[in-house]
Amino acid sequence: MEVVIVPNAQAAAALAGQILVDVLRSHPAPVVGLATGSSPLGVYRYVLDRGVSWAHASAVLLDEYVGLPPGHPESYREFIRREFLEETDLPAERLHGPDVHVPGPELPAACAAYDRLLADLGGVDVQLLGIGSDGHIGFNEPGSSLGSRTRVKTLTATTRADNARFFDSPDDVPRHVVTQGLGTILDARHLLLIATGAAKAAPIAAAVEGQVSAFCPASVLQLHAHATIVVDEAAAARLELAEYYRDTYRNKPPWQPL
Ligand code: F6R
Repeated sequence: MEVVIVPNAQAAAALAGQILVDVLRSHPAPVVGLATGSSPLGVYRYVLDRGVSWAHASAVLLDEYVGLPPGHPESYREFIRREFLEETDLPAERLHGPDVHVPGPELPAACAAYDRLLADLGGVDVQLLGIGSDGHIGFNEPGSSLGSRTRVKTLTATTRADNARFFDSPDDVPRHVVTQGLGTILDARHLLLIATGAAKAAPIAAAVEGQVSAFCPASVLQLHAHATIVVDEAAAARLELAEYYRDTYRNKPPWQPL
């Protein structure tokens, strides 16, 4: 796990964005895992501004609300299309997400099909992640099995309140979601988590320096062989080893890529 502390949100977006750009430029058929929410927006702007081609790429979603009609502006498929991919040359059929528009009893099969699809694509080259104030990644809320696969989850009251800003009323935030499981996320070859702002300081400290525990799902990144955590100074405020992380990054040899 490599923790990189940068001065501000703009620098975090540039650093994480350049990692995506490098993957898009260097792989013949890159598979890029995308997150929604506010954290990745600067990353997406950075990638768009580089004009990199997505013509041979596939994009995969981390999670999706259950219960919103197809095309709902706050569905994660629509969010990613509108905020990001619409401005790229990614062929529309290569944006993949779990199928949440099946009858409830068929959702487990649709979740399993999504895990199979990710494997059939050859696995995810780089998975971008944000972190929730309760430590979730994807929508793996506290208590999620560290080995979980894609499945239906119930959002916590905290997450529904955090996401209410995207809906007309807090009651409109769906209660259920389909999310890649923590085990599914761990299958990606590179995990890239971005967190900025003071509200992320506590979950980042728990994820990076706390115990590996279902109580803080993001702590599962400690088990991954190639996880990069990009934080600004505000989100790094509660890291005990912050000075070591800064020193490590300052003295990073040029031959040692992120
Ligand atoms: C959404 C997702 C979530 C968010 C997290 C942080 O696809 O995976 O885990 O990354 O809720 O959201 P923001 O960035 O809005 O604080």
